[in-house]
Amino acid sequence: MKLVQLKNRCRRTRPLTSTNIVVLSIIAIITAIVSCSKDQAAEPNPEPPPESVTVENVSYTNFARTLFESKCSSCHVAGASASGKWTFSGYTSVKNNAATIKNVVLENRTMPLGGSLTSQERELLAAWFTRNTPEN
Ligand code: HEC
Repeated sequence: MKLVQLKNRCRRTRPLTSTNIVVLSIIAIITAIVSCSKDQAAEPNPEPPPESVTVENVSYTNFARTLFESKCSSCHVAGASASGKWTFSGYTSVKNNAATIKNVVLENRTMPLGGSLTSQERELLAAWFTRNTPEN
């Protein structure tokens, strides 16, 4: 008998009024907005993984710059031994001498003097010239 009374008491909840529904919805929306902005603050957008360089997307920024820096700059930056022949000082210095650079690296293969390019570097560099030396 006692148990039945208890059950009845539990069932007797007040029905939701429309005001209650509106208030609850507003709270829910605010909670959602706050938790979303918190998430963004806690996790700053991670850097996208570096795209792999292919003959389709090869550029100065993703490939050629590093190549000139590592294989040419020892002799060709301002003040270095061969800077009189060509001074490497960034994209424009390559762009303005593209035909000669292509010639000595890919055709005559006299550069890099005393060094070499891997077949992959050669392929990507050739593709970069074919693509008209894009910077990005
Ligand atoms: C070990 C030093 C050294 C390295 C490394 C080197 N060069 Fe040279 N480069 C020279 C020298 C020395 C000359 C002048 C050669 C000559 O006149 O016969 C030269 C000449 C040049 C010229 C002028 C060619 C002409 O006909 O006017 C270009 C362009 C050039 N190099 C590009 C490059 C590029 C691109 C790289 C890297 C892939 C490179 N060099 C790496 C020493 C180097």
